[in-house]
Amino acid sequence: MKKLFSLLTALMLLTVLAACGNDTTQSGNNGTNNNDEQKTTYTVGLLQQVEHPSLDEIRTAIVDEIAARGYADVIKIDYVNGQNDASNMNTIVQKFIANKVDAIIPIATNAAQSTASATSEIPIIFSAVTDPVAAGLVNDLNKPDGNITGVSDYIDVSAIFTLAEELTPEVQSYGLLYNMGEVNSVSVINEVKEYLEAKGIPFEEAFVTNIGEVTTAVQSLVGKVDALFIPIDNTVAAAMSNVAEIANANQIPIYVAADSLVHDGGLATAGINYTQLGKQTADMLIRILIDGEAIADNPVEVMEECAVTVNQETAVAIGVDVSKYTE
Ligand code: TRP
Repeated sequence: MKKLFSLLTALMLLTVLAACGNDTTQSGNNGTNNNDEQKTTYTVGLLQQVEHPSLDEIRTAIVDEIAARGYADVIKIDYVNGQNDASNMNTIVQKFIANKVDAIIPIATNAAQSTASATSEIPIIFSAVTDPVAAGLVNDLNKPDGNITGVSDYIDVSAIFTLAEELTPEVQSYGLLYNMGEVNSVSVINEVKEYLEAKGIPFEEAFVTNIGEVTTAVQSLVGKVDALFIPIDNTVAAAMSNVAEIANANQIPIYVAADSLVHDGGLATAGINYTQLGKQTADMLIRILIDGEAIADNPVEVMEECAVTVNQETAVAIGVDVSKYTE
């Protein structure tokens, strides 16, 4: 019976739609051009910064959407994993350029930065870059003026902390865990700090520079803070199950900025749908590559519609009531 119960709770990772942020998600053009006659094939370099569930989900959604639109034989995807290493990613992009790819899709911020710094000619359609302006990719989201545009994942900091206050009102301090070398994390963390300072809630930071440092960094926060916050940090995401194991064993709730981090053991988030983000990335690629649309006519699309996701198993393990989001 106990086994059955834990199996059931494990399956109850429930996502409840919530109206956080403005519902200004732009959906991609579903395409009116019928390119059945198209004979040419295109090669697209796909550089995924690192393998973790959210970036894997995005890549799968991109590939699936290209197939669903009927271009599986027209658009050849050359996928390479960047191993979260800048010099490795620079080498990969140089290979794409030498192979004369027709476009490059970098998934995540550092991959997009490596790509943008290597070519000002090949069209770049980035995917899941949280703050493309802070990352130096575009000057204005609405007016891409170079060879680069893409789809951004907006993080609704106040929605996440409103959820945290509702689920664990007793929390009086937060530990912030991230890699300072990820602009995406720094820009979310800056907002988090502003939010916490305005409320007079103290916080401690723990920094990592690579995946191997994550466990020690979490341990350094145990005993010092009541809860953890993790932004959309690729370095931490790649070791999230270790983070969750330590935090959950110490009854520390983890609030995160992406649903994949909840699936990997975090307590809760209000975040965007990354399958939809991948789909929009592919639709944008098709508009630019196949329909011949200009980059300048494709403003950066920002995913803003978000949903609450809670981990029922984690909630039970640390004694937090999340029933409002699982019924
Ligand atoms: N938005 C991140 C970036 O700008 C990439 C990302 C997407 C991510 N989903 C995530 C990071 C989930 C951590 C967890 O690089």
